[in-house]
Amino acid sequence: MVVVAILAAGRGTRMKSNLPKVLHSLGGRSLVERVIESVEPLSPSRRIVIVGYQAEEVKAAMQSIPTLEFVEQTVQLGTGHAIQQLLPCLEGYTGNLLVLNGDLPLIRSATLKQLLQTHQKNQNTATILTANLNDPTGYGRVFCNNESVVQQIVEHKDCTADQKQNTRINAGVYCFSWQNLAQVLPHLQANNAQNEYYLTDTVTQVGKVMAVDVADYQEILGINDRLQLAAASEILQRRVKEKWMLAGVTLIDPTSITIDETVELQPDVIIEPQTHLRGNTVIETGSRIGPGSLIENSQLAENVIVQYSVVTNSLVKAGTRIGPYAHLRGHAQVGAGCRVGNFVELKNTRLGDRTNVAHLSYLGDAVTGDQVNIGAGTITANYDGVKKHPTKIGDRTQTGSNSVLVAPVTLGDDVYVAAGSAVTEDVPDDCLVIARARQVIKVGWRKRKAQS
Ligand code: UD1
Ligand code: CA
Repeated sequence: MVVVAILAAGRGTRMKSNLPKVLHSLGGRSLVERVIESVEPLSPSRRIVIVGYQAEEVKAAMQSIPTLEFVEQTVQLGTGHAIQQLLPCLEGYTGNLLVLNGDLPLIRSATLKQLLQTHQKNQNTATILTANLNDPTGYGRVFCNNESVVQQIVEHKDCTADQKQNTRINAGVYCFSWQNLAQVLPHLQANNAQNEYYLTDTVTQVGKVMAVDVADYQEILGINDRLQLAAASEILQRRVKEKWMLAGVTLIDPTSITIDETVELQPDVIIEPQTHLRGNTVIETGSRIGPGSLIENSQLAENVIVQYSVVTNSLVKAGTRIGPYAHLRGHAQVGAGCRVGNFVELKNTRLGDRTNVAHLSYLGDAVTGDQVNIGAGTITANYDGVKKHPTKIGDRTQTGSNSVLVAPVTLGDDVYVAAGSAVTEDVPDDCLVIARARQVIKVGWRKRKAQS
């Protein structure tokens, strides 16, 4: 049985941010959410997040995660002090406690499982995750005997010049037998460079403590500043892109592309340079996205083409072409075989199949049928300053250039709207509507003006 505690009370001073460190985002999810996710496969009996700095914000950000518990550390006196806060709520508990720093977003579940196994197999009182780093600057150094039994952990700031040469570092992931830890926690001292109560000091007091080296040091990168955040993001992006390329997706100039971990891509999708795929986006086979596009929380069916466009919270059916320079948002739904072209914005609008909106249009709160042609510069006037109103357009209807459809308004099937019309009333099926002043020509007007 294992209880998980995640340390997330610190401010993260080195981030130089108003946002608590653990809420900084990495590839679409906060640092602490990533840590919570990493413990999921261990099926912990409880997950406790220790919060402190901007506790309310941190809690609110994780509100939607069921059964997560929070314990408050009202003053942040160090990682040992943070774990002391668990004493009341874990009273009588006899299992293991897995402790993770909240700023450790790349840790893999398999590594945590291995740590727990080593802990149990060797009957340790504590087992800690370590790594050998070329540049161990900033990390606590772990000193072991030949059998990987830990003698001491010394924080970088407390190290002598000699101790700093040790490249074995503490990753900030620990498995403790809770009963042993609970006995020593109340006696921690803060005699160190930072005047903090260090969790790492407990290792000299609890009994047999063993170090386990992580196989891939990239997993244990702690995020303390924006440089490390960027480095982690690069590692994460490499993981995600390698996965999709091996699954049959072509990335052209991969370094210029970003893909959230939550995105799903099918084989034979092509992603062109400077394209960013975010959130719950799904792109089906044969689609070609980019260059220069942002797709967020959207579903694109097979053989869709998107160039230099922004698509958010929208759905596009097979064989449709979007862009260049189109903007789909607010639950736009575009049918199959459509064309949404240059400088077109669709908001909360549904287009039927084989419908074209090729140039310079805004359709908001509109529904069209199939094979509709929206002429260049057609605008739905959907907002009266107070409320939004719908526009309905039937099958095969065509709007002339520069028409304004003043909502609420319905155009039937096979309607033709004359160019430059301001349509304010519903139009039945199979009609031509002309809603503009008739052109007047005054012959010889310049001469008459001169004589008067
Ligand atoms: C810590 C370890 C160090 C290790 C490194 C790995 C200690 C004393 N040092 O150092 O050995 O190499 O992590 O990344 O543990 N926190 C609280 N309450 C506090 C202080 C911190 O909840 O009072 C939380 C922070 O929000 C953070 C985590 O604990 O998520 C680690 O704190 P941080 O200040 O980043 O520790 P490091 O100096 O990196
Ligand atoms: Ca840290």
